[in-house]
Amino acid sequence: MSDAAVGRMASPLGWPGDPTAHRPGSAGRPSPLGWPWSRTTPIPDTIDPTVSEPEQSAGAEPGAQSESGSETEEALMVDAGPQGGSPDGAATDASHRRIREVLDAATVSRETAPDPVSRETDDDLPIAIEARRAVAVLNPSGEAMPRPPATRIMCVANQKGGVGKTTSTVNLAVALALHGSRVLVVDLDPQGNASTGLGVDHHAGIPSIYDVLIEGVPLADVAAPVEGVPGLLCVPATIDLAGAEIELVSVVARETRLRRAIEAYDGDLDYVLIDCPPSLGLLTVNALVAAREVLIPIQCEYYALEGLGQLLRNVDLVKAHLNNDVEVTTILLTMYDGRTKLADQVAAEVREHFKDIVLSTVIPRSVRVSEAPGYGQSVMTYDPGSRGATSYLSAAREIAVRGAKEAAAT
Ligand SMILES: Nc1ncnc2c1ncn2[C@@H]1O[C@H](COP(=O)(O)OP(=O)(O)OP(=O)(O)O)[C@@H](O)[C@H]1O
Ligand SMILES: [Mg+2]
Repeated sequence: MSDAAVGRMASPLGWPGDPTAHRPGSAGRPSPLGWPWSRTTPIPDTIDPTVSEPEQSAGAEPGAQSESGSETEEALMVDAGPQGGSPDGAATDASHRRIREVLDAATVSRETAPDPVSRETDDDLPIAIEARRAVAVLNPSGEAMPRPPATRIMCVANQKGGVGKTTSTVNLAVALALHGSRVLVVDLDPQGNASTGLGVDHHAGIPSIYDVLIEGVPLADVAAPVEGVPGLLCVPATIDLAGAEIELVSVVARETRLRRAIEAYDGDLDYVLIDCPPSLGLLTVNALVAAREVLIPIQCEYYALEGLGQLLRNVDLVKAHLNNDVEVTTILLTMYDGRTKLADQVAAEVREHFKDIVLSTVIPRSVRVSEAPGYGQSVMTYDPGSRGATSYLSAAREIAVRGAKEAAAT
């Protein structure tokens, strides 16, 4: 390839064709950075300190400036070489002088440089922190949380919609199962969100909780294993359940259908988590009758506490007439947004009112939590290193530890 062809080619870094054309100080033009050298100017290997200033500046007036008086243009004149009319020797002298000036002007700092060695260890890097969180969540070493002496049946209820009932059911169930507990999730909402979140098939017509409540099919026949989470089963809900509220009205012992199904379940379970619909109808009543514990997720938002009184009254009614054992044992604050004062106010008010049944763990509002169901996963498996996953893990641990303490105290 000819030199001319090489010259026309653009460089891979985007330099224009002629590799010499726009080099600093080339072609008799000053570089924007003020480089004094040109292709025609020999670069001195060393500066002879014995050469005196007048000698160095021979051929150029000390401090001589161009017409415009700018230093850059001085370099231009020198740089121009034969075209500019200056001899090469003068250019060299001018360069020496400039370097000398720069060296003389330079003040040497006696300050020691800041410690160049980072004291940060690899363990402090964000990726390492996230990896540690993921390991804690996925628990490859099989560390177990305390398991209850008897099955804990928890109804996750709040008639207010969208407060995090399903998200909490799914993620707490996965967290408990990943830490050695055997867990059954009962999806009692015709929307079937818990089934979706656990990646369990729930299209119309498949065996589901509807068959259990209306047809008396055993729970074990409809419980499906959750992929990737050993020890976790899910009884799915299909759209068929939408009609169950009305159909149940004429069924014998309509409020205790779920309770009987759970009592008849033969497997060894540590937890049954029931995800309720956002209503206080017969489905929720079935859950309250079946459960010993009620877990109420409360969203850290303005209307969070409205309607809670009605839920508590319903729990009292069920307790008085249908299930003496049921108690509100756990309140979980969800979708906490630390940037708002409102979230703090709601959290403080809930804690003041419900005291120590409120878990100290608060679930933050997090995009990862809301993305996970789209992949048929809990946030625990979708992004185990995220804050949402860590928070649900810590809430699950609190639930397990509190349960164990209470069991030990009785
Ligand atoms: N911590 C969180 N951060 C961000 N989004 C969340 C969080 N928790 C829940 N969400 C999202 O908020 C919406 C409502 O949550 P979820 O479905 O769990 O509430 P719900 O009480 O079960 O609703 P419903 O009353 O309809 O059954 C969902 O889109 C969910 O992904
Ligand atoms: Mg729900």
